[in-house]
Amino acid sequence: MAPAQSKVEASSQVAASQRPRRLRRTAALRRMVCETQLTLNDLIYPIFVREGTGIEEAIPSMPGLSRYSLDLLLEEAAAVYRLGIGAIALFPLIPIDQKDNAGTESYNPDGLVPRTVKALKEALPDLLIFTDVALDPYSSEGHDGIVQDGKILNDETVAVLVKQALCQAGAGADFVCPSDMMDGRVGAIRQALDAEGWTQVGILAYSAKYASAYYGPFRDALDSAPQFGDKKTYQMDAANTREALKEVALDIAEGADLVMVKPALAYMDIIWQIKQSTMLPVVAYNVSGEYAMVKAAAERGWIDEPQVVIETLTSFKRAGADLILTYFAKQLALQLRSQ
Ligand code: PBG
Repeated sequence: MAPAQSKVEASSQVAASQRPRRLRRTAALRRMVCETQLTLNDLIYPIFVREGTGIEEAIPSMPGLSRYSLDLLLEEAAAVYRLGIGAIALFPLIPIDQKDNAGTESYNPDGLVPRTVKALKEALPDLLIFTDVALDPYSSEGHDGIVQDGKILNDETVAVLVKQALCQAGAGADFVCPSDMMDGRVGAIRQALDAEGWTQVGILAYSAKYASAYYGPFRDALDSAPQFGDKKTYQMDAANTREALKEVALDIAEGADLVMVKPALAYMDIIWQIKQSTMLPVVAYNVSGEYAMVKAAAERGWIDEPQVVIETLTSFKRAGADLILTYFAKQLALQLRSQ
């Protein structure tokens, strides 16, 4: 005799030719029908470098992350590489006495970034290195371009960005990454790289970069906050979509290899639309403020951090990102390994 329970079920059975829950019944089934795979191959890990030796300096607004002197950065990069992460992005903390309005230090071939790139390429030749092209870490004004009468000069800045990119390529960077949002910079950099024989060096363009309040912790980390005003005359308005598509189209026409949307979390619709508009791989930048929010909530015990990290990064991929630049890359690698 059937148990009483099944009678109850039978009498309350709905007529459903489709029962989506059938495909969610077991973990093995769920894995089988999973549509989006997040892998370490998709990740680029940002690392902060500073002058000195033997220094690992914690960044208060980005718990778990530090600025490293070159010797310790090499150890950190090796550890990250061993964990299965194939790419890093370098961001430098430049001493204040090396900053000026024209960002001169940005194209010093013996500067912190070129020295770091060279040392990394020697120690870990297969680790891909992405270097940021913009003046803000080098600018006494904390802006991404040269300032004159309170305005950011475009073409004069592009001339400096070109020198910076050549300097990074010469040191061995695999990708140069203009994050400055000056007009015409991708084309100018591509032409100069080609003219110097660096045809193999790629360009990751920060194409859809919004003027965002989510960059706060990063500016703390590099001591690079604008000394006056904001970045709204060059970074984009959060209210706009078409402008993002226009920037992407321009950067592709000018020679970008990879296009980026930044920030990521509040701009998932932009990631999706850009994905529909281009054949190029799309990169999402999961920025410092997004990282800090998760860390802060997790510290209070309000969210389950490992789960939130996987959910968020998977969602970027679902939205159309092929690659993700994220401060969570290392901890995700550790997390996946222990699963
Ligand atoms: C520099 C640059 C910024 C970020 C990456 N490159 C700061 C800015 O534009 O003010 C922000 C990254 C982050 O918040 O994680 N041009």
